[in-house]
Formats: sequence, structure tokens, C-alpha cells
Amino acid sequence: MSNDILPKASYWGIPDSLTQLDGFWLISTAVDPATTFRSNFNARDDDVILASMLKTGTTWLKALAHSILKKGESGDPLTKDNPHNLVPTLEFEALSSANTKFDIYDASGPRLLHTHLPYSILPGSVKNSACKIVYIARNPKDTLISMWHFYNAIVVMGGQEPVSLDEAVDGFCSGVHPFGPFSDHAAEYWLESRRWPEKVLFLKYEEMKSDPKREVSRIAEFMGRPLTKEGEAEELLWRCSLERLKNLEVNSTGHDVGPMPNAAFFRKGQVGDYKNYLTSQMEERIHQTVGLKLEALGIFF
Ligand code: A3P
Repeated sequence: MSNDILPKASYWGIPDSLTQLDGFWLISTAVDPATTFRSNFNARDDDVILASMLKTGTTWLKALAHSILKKGESGDPLTKDNPHNLVPTLEFEALSSANTKFDIYDASGPRLLHTHLPYSILPGSVKNSACKIVYIARNPKDTLISMWHFYNAIVVMGGQEPVSLDEAVDGFCSGVHPFGPFSDHAAEYWLESRRWPEKVLFLKYEEMKSDPKREVSRIAEFMGRPLTKEGEAEELLWRCSLERLKNLEVNSTGHDVGPMPNAAFFRKGQVGDYKNYLTSQMEERIHQTVGLKLEALGIFF
């Protein structure tokens, strides 16, 4: 199918920057890689696929999962590479050896990969093999505020005026934003995690913040690498903490992911930051359009 016939939408004033594929709004440049991935990728039983909507704690999850996978090895890769360099996002990286710095088809196992794609768009082999999926969700209001800051940084770097919060709320509530609609994205992974708990682990950013030791132990256990040594969880959490990563030279000065400086991936990491920005009317609108569905499913209240 040619991507030209797929519905397009502008996002924050950039015409045709989103393309609708199977009911979800993908960043237009991610459509070709996503469809290539869907038709060509053969999952292996020992693959671990991290999945998330934008701005829900992806960077943190990448750092933690990579550190869990490499635990016991000497050195600390996080001091040399931004987590997005260590764990590629499938639809942003090239998907063939033609134009890639990380060939996902050749990477030796166990492979640790990431995607923002919704569950329904994942390749059949990911769904049908024994590979594991770890999804991180975040409450919609904090996600929106994090997205607003992040995209405005890109917009301003491109010489445009920042987008108003009203406009950001409009896009979020209508579901017309990268990888949206938000509630459908979370709902798909949530339902799969209920159906196949041994296959899909569903994490919440808020629970990672409130009980990090329990959550990092769950991730490690799920990945088949339980934390058995005294102090192992604490060490991993320190290694991957926002404060530490933010201040590492590679993240404070590096520039590895698209147009963004690495520093843009580390902001406040505060649960409830939305209270500093959203009016009660905005909150109500988000609740009605996004929150109620998540509430009905028992994901967020
Ligand atoms: P805020 O913008 O609310 O601060 P993503 O990684 O999916 O892009 O999500 C970005 C959000 O996760 C940002 O939230 C960022 O500050 C936060 N974050 C990044 N690294 C983190 C870490 N190591 N621990 C906790 N939160 C982190």
C-alpha cells in the first residue's frame, strides 16, 4: 500500500507531519520504517521489546532495561551513550543495513529494542513468539505537559513560535498527536498484559516513582534476570536516576537523537507537574476525552 493514500494531518503547524495508519497517528517519517518492520521483522524468543507512548518514561525504561541486561559485565555504558543510543527505537532507526548505525536484523541476541508503535501494528512474529514486551504508561496530564515542553523545544529550535497550551490540549484530546490516540495506545497494551501477563508487562511511571525498588525488581524478574544480590536494585536505580543521567557529560552536552540535544530528554520527572500548568477546564476536557476510557479499563483513575 502506498503511504500517499493514507490520511494526513498537520501537527503543531507542520503540514502533513502525521499520517494515520490503522487508526493511529504516526509521525509521517516513521510510517515507512514501521511498515517495513511489520513485514520483515522476525522476533526471536529471547528478544525484549520495550514499548511506550512518547514522554511516558521511555528514557528511564531504556536505561534500566539495558543495565539489567548487562548486569554483571564490567563498565557502565550509560556514561558513554545516551539511553536512546543504547536501545534503538525501531521506527526512528533505519530498519535495514542500508542506512543504519544499528542493524536490528543482525544484532546478536538477546536483542533489546524499543518502539512507540501501538500493539496492533506490531509484527505478527512479535505477538506470536515467546519474546517479551515491557510497556510503560504515564498519566495523561503529565504526559501532555511533558510532550508540550519537548515539542516546543523542537519548534523553537526550528525558528517557529512556541505552541500554546490550548493548542496542545486540543491535539491531545482529539487524539491527533504522535502515536495517538493516547488512550487507545495504552488500552491495547493493557488488555494484552491482562491476557498474557507472562508476555506483556505493563508498568506505570507513577508506580516506578513511588516504589522504584519493587518495580525494578519486577522488570528484572520479567526479563529473566532477577536481582538476587544485596543492594543490586539500589545500584541499578542510582545508575539510571534522572539526577545522575542528566548530569553525565554525554547527556548534558551530547546530541544523538534527531534534532534534539540529549539534555531535552531529562526535565523534572515529577508526578503531578500538570498542576502547575493546566486550568481546571483543561483538566476536565482531558478527563472527558482521554481519562474516562483509561478509568473504565482500570488503568488510571
Ligand atoms: P518530564 O518532562 O515530566 O520531566 P520519555 O523518556 O518517554 O521521553 O519521557 C520523558 C519524561 O521522563 C520527562 O518527564 C523526563 O524528565 C522523565 N525522565 C527522563 N529520564 C528519567 C529518569 N532517569 N528517571 C525518571 N524520569 C525520567
